[in-house]
Order: sequence, then structure tokens, then C-alpha cells
Amino acid sequence: MKISMLGGGFIGRFYADALHGHRSKDQIVSIYSRRKESVDRFMGDYKVGHGTTVMEESIAHPEVEVVCIALPNNLHEEAVQLCCKHKKAVICTKPLARNADEAKRMLEAVEKAGLFAGYLEDLVYTPKFIKAYDSVKSGALGRVLWAKSRETHPGPHSEWFWNLEEAGGGCILDLGCHCVEIARSYIGKDIRPVEVMCWADTQVKPIDAEDHAIGLVKYENGAIGQFEVSWTFRGGMDLRDEVMGTEGTIWVNSFLRTGFEMFTTGKGGDYVAEKAESNSGWLFPVGDEINELGYYHMFTEMFRCMENGTQPRETFYDGYVVNAVLDAAYRSAKTKQWEPVKLDVWRGRTGVSKDSHLVEFDADHYLVKEEVTHYGAKKVILKNKKTGKISERVS
Ligand SMILES: NC(=O)c1ccc[n+]([C@@H]2O[C@H](COP(=O)([O-])OP(=O)(O)OC[C@H]3O[C@@H](n4cnc5c(N)ncnc54)[C@H](O)[C@@H]3O)[C@@H](O)[C@H]2O)c1
Repeated sequence: MKISMLGGGFIGRFYADALHGHRSKDQIVSIYSRRKESVDRFMGDYKVGHGTTVMEESIAHPEVEVVCIALPNNLHEEAVQLCCKHKKAVICTKPLARNADEAKRMLEAVEKAGLFAGYLEDLVYTPKFIKAYDSVKSGALGRVLWAKSRETHPGPHSEWFWNLEEAGGGCILDLGCHCVEIARSYIGKDIRPVEVMCWADTQVKPIDAEDHAIGLVKYENGAIGQFEVSWTFRGGMDLRDEVMGTEGTIWVNSFLRTGFEMFTTGKGGDYVAEKAESNSGWLFPVGDEINELGYYHMFTEMFRCMENGTQPRETFYDGYVVNAVLDAAYRSAKTKQWEPVKLDVWRGRTGVSKDSHLVEFDADHYLVKEEVTHYGAKKVILKNKKTGKISERVS
């Protein structure tokens, strides 16, 4: 692929490392960044032939086949509209937009223009997520009841994130977008998110947006999603998922406790891992950060789908659903009520109800629970189908 990279900042450089990593043939052929110095530095670092401080010039560059949006949130829509104007395939970082209205306009624009459009939600492409997801889909956990995702760190690295107008929100939008899509994937992307209850506050930072929030997302099949997000967490970047089903449980720790622990007095390099707060003492480095964060798998799938003319795992439609869930979270944080998820466009299943949760024991009873106690008794707790009476049998 010949790529235009819009934005040469934090994520633009992570993306460039992934795209140009290994023996990749994919090549960034044009870079747009706001300042000439950043354009020049990026061109030098990644051997990019064309650079500009005019966004449209990079998108329209004749060599460019796909545009990668790695810009502040308030510029995503403008960039997508320009891709439509120049008929360029587009892949956009998270969150897709600042709110669902903006996301819907972007979705409609790419679909009207008939363009390939991928949503770069890297955290559903991490090696651990892919393995966990495959297990869930093969039924290893039974019916998914609860899926929680947590992303907390000490706060983002550029000024625009802290400006409510440019960012569109605080940690709910910035980090919650990952968490919502992770939980939604485990529960089933064809299951409609129905309503959201959210607590949010600005506990520490001198900003207008929230710096800490916890939310619950209710799904039509009775499953519950949960997100925990913070820009005030101390100790690095905490990325953890938990899934609970009728037949099993998954705990995934993606960043702080990956099985790699190191002690140093601080002599040597400065960089440990994204958002690490210290480079001495006991540390939790991350082996191959680009891989652990899903970037290789994500671009590989995106480009394979572009070549095959198929839809990627994550589309602009997914980005739109995530924005709609987060809009409901913001409303709930204000009203302190469950707020409906407003989805003008719903492409999943409708009229889904809770699956039966009854386990047959015998003709007259449902099984509630069985357990072997520490003193060797086998206990079976039963519910009579007709009378509803609960009883136990010990053997
Ligand atoms: N895991 C992820 O997927 C992930 C991680 C970090 C950031 N992001 C997303 O990537 C996007 C960019 O974030 P970032 O961390 O790279 O930001 P950044 O501040 O590090 O980089 C922003 C880039 O946009 C350019 N730019 C153009 N116009 C600008 C303007 N008016 N103000 C500020 N910058 C301007 C800057 O020159 C710079 O190259 C955001 O949407 C963010 O949410 C995604």
C-alpha cells in the first residue's frame, strides 16, 4: 500500500513504525503535519518522499492509495470529507469522532462515495485479545454475562487532548472508546447496546472535561458491559479486560503485568513503555509494544480486506456505534439516570431476549448449584419446577 499519513505525532509515529516494520512493502509516501519541522523530521525518520503542511495536498497526492488519519479528534471529519472528495480509501484512528452525529456524517460520506473505510481500534487486534475472542466465540465461556475493560493512565501527552472543544470529551471519549468496543466485541457486535449508566468526575486535573469515569452498558440480550477509565491513574498504563460467562472466565492484562518484570537503579535508557511513570526501581516493560498493542495485526487485516474487497473487523459503522454509546454515557453522567443509546442506524439483530438460564436436573427439578465441601460432602441445591421450593441433597 502507498499511504498518506495525516499527523506525525504520537500515534502517527507508532503507525509508521508498524507500517514500515519487519519486511513490510507498505510505504508511507506522503506525510501531512501542522508544522514544517515535524514534516521534515518525519520525512527523514521514515524515508518519506513527500511532505506538506496542507492536508488536502497529501490526500490528493497521485501516488497515495490509502489515507491514514492520525490527527486530533476535531480534524477527523474534515479529513474524511477530503478523502471522499479525492476518492481515497481511508483508515481512521480512534475515536472515530467527537460524537455520534459527527460519526454518522463520516459514515454516510464514505458509504456514499463507495470508499473502503476502516476504524483503527487497535485493542481488538492485540494477540491476547484475538486469542481470548476466539475462545469466547468458540463457546469456551458459554453465554457472556459481563465484559469489563479498563484503561487508565496518568493522562495524555499533547495539549489538544485537554481542550474540550478539540478533543470532544475527556477520558470517557479518549479511553472509553477502546473499552466499549472491547466489551461489545465479546458480547457480540450484532447485539444492540440499549442503555448506559455512568459516573464521571473531574477529580484531579484543572480541566473542563472528566478525568475519571466508570460506566455500565446494558445490552439487549441481558449482558452487561463495563468501562473504567481515568487520566489520573498513577503507575503507568493499566490495560485490563475481564470476561465472565456461564461456563468460564477470562482475565487479560495487556500492559502492566505481562510476565516481564525488571529492576534497575535507573542507569541506562529512559523509555520503558507507553505512559510508564518511572525508569528505575521495579519496572514492567512491554516486550514488543507495537505488536502487543495490535498495530501489526490491525494494518495487516485492513490492507488484506482492501485488496480482497471485504469489510475489515472494524469499520466506520463500529466507530459510530461506539460514539453513540459514549454520548449516552455523557448524558447519564449529567442526569444520573440510565440513558438510552440513540442509534439512528442499527445493522445488528433486533428483538433479542435473554437466553434461558435454567439447567435441567431431573423431570421435577432445575439445578441451582452443586459443590463438594471441605469435609467431603457432595451437595446439590435444587429448585422444584412446579412449587419453586429450594431443597438440597447431600451425598
Ligand atoms: N491507541 C490508539 O489508537 C491511539 C493512541 C494515541 C492517540 N490516538 C488518536 O490519534 C489521534 C492523534 O493523537 P496523537 O496522540 O498522535 O496526537 P499528537 O498531538 O501527538 O499528534 C497530532 C498530530 O496532528 C497534527 N496536527 C494537525 N493539526 C493540528 C492541530 N490543529 N492541533 C494539534 N495537532 C495538529 C500535529 O502536527 C501532529 O502531527 C487522536 O484522534 C487520538 O485519539 C490513538
